[in-house]
Amino acid sequence: MCGIVGITSSKEVTPRIISSLKKLEYRGYDSAGLATLSNGNINEVKCEGRVDALEKNIIQTKISGSIGIGHVRWATHGKPSSINAHPHSSEDVSVVHNGIIENSTILKKLLENKGYKFKSQTDTEVIVHLVTDYLKKNNLKNTIIKVLKKLHGSFALGIIFKDQPDLIVGARRGSPLAVGYGPNEHYLGSDSYALKSMTNKISYLNDGEFCILKKDQVEFFDADGTKVNKKILNLSKDDQNYEKGDYKYYMAKEIDEQPITLKNCVNEYIDKHNKEINIYNFPWKINEISSVILIGCGTAYHSCLVAKYWFEQNTSLDVRVDIASEFRYRKIKFKKDCLYVFVSQSGETADTFAALDLCKKNNVKTCAVVNVVESSIARDADLVLPIHCGPEVGVASTKAFLGQMLVLYLLCTKLSYEQKSINKKDYQKKIKDLLSLSKSAKNTLNIEDKIQTLGKDFANSKGSMFLGRGYSYPIALEGALKLKELAYVHAEGYPAGEMKHGPLALIEEGMPVVVIAPRDEHYKKTISNMQEVISRGAKVLLITNKSTDEIYSENIWEQIEVDAISDELIPFLTTIPLQKLAYYSALDKGYDIDKPRNLAKSVTVE
Ligand code: G6P
Repeated sequence: MCGIVGITSSKEVTPRIISSLKKLEYRGYDSAGLATLSNGNINEVKCEGRVDALEKNIIQTKISGSIGIGHVRWATHGKPSSINAHPHSSEDVSVVHNGIIENSTILKKLLENKGYKFKSQTDTEVIVHLVTDYLKKNNLKNTIIKVLKKLHGSFALGIIFKDQPDLIVGARRGSPLAVGYGPNEHYLGSDSYALKSMTNKISYLNDGEFCILKKDQVEFFDADGTKVNKKILNLSKDDQNYEKGDYKYYMAKEIDEQPITLKNCVNEYIDKHNKEINIYNFPWKINEISSVILIGCGTAYHSCLVAKYWFEQNTSLDVRVDIASEFRYRKIKFKKDCLYVFVSQSGETADTFAALDLCKKNNVKTCAVVNVVESSIARDADLVLPIHCGPEVGVASTKAFLGQMLVLYLLCTKLSYEQKSINKKDYQKKIKDLLSLSKSAKNTLNIEDKIQTLGKDFANSKGSMFLGRGYSYPIALEGALKLKELAYVHAEGYPAGEMKHGPLALIEEGMPVVVIAPRDEHYKKTISNMQEVISRGAKVLLITNKSTDEIYSENIWEQIEVDAISDELIPFLTTIPLQKLAYYSALDKGYDIDKPRNLAKSVTVE
């Protein structure tokens, strides 16, 4: 959440800071700002709204410089406004900050008593005045060490100093931060994605570390100021130019890419010749694992819920699912024979990362299912299983959800076979089914016309319900989440069998309800539940799979049929119409689909 970029160079930096901030907008987009040093002064431009607005301001104010820091904000302390936008500056220093300073109120009082005046409502401004204050009696390095020790909470920081014309300080606790290496210049970024257009040579700060960047030198230090040596990593250049192409929104592109991303991921893990799932570098013996806990947030959590059914059905492992923000504060009895699996598209979600950190401290087995392989979560887990989706830019996760489910399914299938819970024939049948999944996903995309019209009805409803049983229950949760995120319509996902224990009271004439009822073992029961909502006036959109069997139900408003594939894999297909439904509902409302209000893609605060 929030994005940072900094460049120290001998060339002009403002246009490049602006273009990197545009790449970082998925992390926060309520306000933006930039500060440079030139002619011995700090120049600052900030505004409420998007980076485009900032760019216009910069053209007008003509600020320039060969060193600068920029920021896109997702408000935590203080509403979105130009005053609360970052950077925050005194005459001497300028600071950009991701994260939350938990003791800012106490620090603010102390600083006010010393005569410092605050302009904004942010927690960040205390850092500006603390640095300014410590610089009076300390050199730069000692100032940073002392200031960081005063701060409680999480942060990634970028700081420039009036008296240091080519120097940026970066610091990290909790929130990610990367350093990039260029020709006679260096970069600071809250993730490598922002820096990829400038360099593919990156180092990451670990928690508690800070760095001093000059155009021709980079130094890293631990919290006590001892020098730290860093590896320089070479990033793949593949994702460098991920653009929207002919699509109006990234989300539409990302939904349509799913057949390809599924195929890529299947190809990465499946040895077609030997009909084998390869999970390389699996560090444990199969009998060392007797249970699995799957942990994530948001859409990633929903992929864990689907996977629970697969693990229960196919393995003899005990399986639990947890929301990362709950897991991290629960009094868990950590078990050596449990595999803790962390699922995260970005690999940077603060709660998921903290939950992983807790597991690491308790010395248990950890596995990361991530999209961004250079992320903090990927770097810290014992085993990394990438989902191979390529960049996902739309704030609401789509292709990563299918990728997360796929990797969890591959892991489950591999473990079940290794455990001998399934035999070779079943194992190879599952592999065969996976090989045709991409094709069925492609067929499911051909629902454009129908779903566009339905989107209008959902967008203009007071609220809606999404119902399912078994694997389709978490898909109902995901469908409802997508509609809430994008169309700002209240939507509730519910187990179809639970409706009569309360939510049935919400059903009224004309209310749109999605029923996900593939022809699996739950089919007949779900159809009965569907009938119950229809008879109370609901307009039902039924999502099922193709079959020669008739549907014994009347008055179904609309129906979408996906391919008939194995029951276990149906969630991959039933998800797609729900993603499109949310997309077209938001489109009908004219909302900014890639950047829904109040949200951010990478949630690096608690
Ligand atoms: C945010 C995004 C969601 C995402 C969640 C978890 O809320 O808007 O789309 O599911 O974070 O993100 P992660 O990167 O950990 O999968």
